[in-house]
Amino acid sequence: MNSKFFTIESQSSGKARAGTIQTDHGAIQTPIFMPVGTVASVKTVHQRELREDIKAQIILGNTYHLYLRPTMEVISGAGGLHPFMNWDLPILTDSGGYQVFSLSASRKMSEEGVKFKSHIDGSLHFISPEKSMEIQRDIGADIFMAFDECTPYPCGYTQARESMEMTHRWLKRCIDWTKNHPERYGHKQHLFPIVQGSTYSDLRRQSAEFISEQDAVGNAIGGLSVGEPEEEMYRITNEVTDILPKEKPRYLMGVGTPWNILESIGLGVDMMDCVMPTRNARNGMIFTWNGVMNLKNEKWKNDFSALDPSGTSFVDSEYSKAYVRHLFVSKEYLGKQIASIHNLAFYLDLVRTARAHILAGDFYQWKDSVSPILRQRL
Ligand code: GUN
Repeated sequence: MNSKFFTIESQSSGKARAGTIQTDHGAIQTPIFMPVGTVASVKTVHQRELREDIKAQIILGNTYHLYLRPTMEVISGAGGLHPFMNWDLPILTDSGGYQVFSLSASRKMSEEGVKFKSHIDGSLHFISPEKSMEIQRDIGADIFMAFDECTPYPCGYTQARESMEMTHRWLKRCIDWTKNHPERYGHKQHLFPIVQGSTYSDLRRQSAEFISEQDAVGNAIGGLSVGEPEEEMYRITNEVTDILPKEKPRYLMGVGTPWNILESIGLGVDMMDCVMPTRNARNGMIFTWNGVMNLKNEKWKNDFSALDPSGTSFVDSEYSKAYVRHLFVSKEYLGKQIASIHNLAFYLDLVRTARAHILAGDFYQWKDSVSPILRQRL
């Protein structure tokens, strides 16, 4: 079973690899970027566009949001998130803790779990590791995440150690609950544990070793891209991927810019997600192989050339820069929609191209060749 979940097709001279993850909702070719669909919607983008145009192979949902609204009653009633949102490719859900900390009006954490006030209506709730597992089972995610605590940056050593140790105890509870409760919808659901430990090498090593011993089919790296310098993020990612089992996929949570994605792939990461392509799109920023463009800029006012001649999406050739600028200046929803489709298609093109270069054996040379443009500061 475990051996079939992930197959490595090519390992380049460094740590980058190309592989395939097999789920009951289809295969995922890695390295992969996963669009974020927090509330059962990738903001402004239809499922049909995601599948057919953007060529997303897996999307993310969030336990915290879906539990609060529409609630598990509705999602269970629909037969899970796949039929509810009419998405029949793989879904990964995050476990809730991270979102409680970034969104809820107030929260109190204990060994038992997290008590919090809903950011929607102020109602009181409690999510424990067991509850997070139950919700994610009800959602029916193909891949679901352990309930963890993500430390802020900077974080003192003692706090980072205690938090990591609790994340490890919570992981044991997640595994126990999962083993003792059947899957709901007839498809396989896979639990990924999460490495924590802030920016401390010894804690990261301890966490990566502990997580590796749990025998999950895949593993994640959390607690990064939380404000630390990029070099710290790469250093920790590199140290952790040196320890996590080579034969299992590695998911770097919440990363990042196009350049962060290529660097992470170069360090042996297989899966990534981030709100950046959709969030920045809604603010009028698009990513291209020629650098970033601010669509609100005056300089596009009379530029009737294609939005992005090197783009892979239909919006890139069918609309002009001047038209999309006009939509943004006029605050039309369609502008946000076009930019979101563009950015997600670009991110998927980025990882698909990275994969092709890994398979061709020249990934690192190619990465160096695109670095002057993609490394651009945002
Ligand atoms: N998303 C980004 N970082 C994290 C993390 O550390 N933990 C979880 N659960 N989700 C994340």
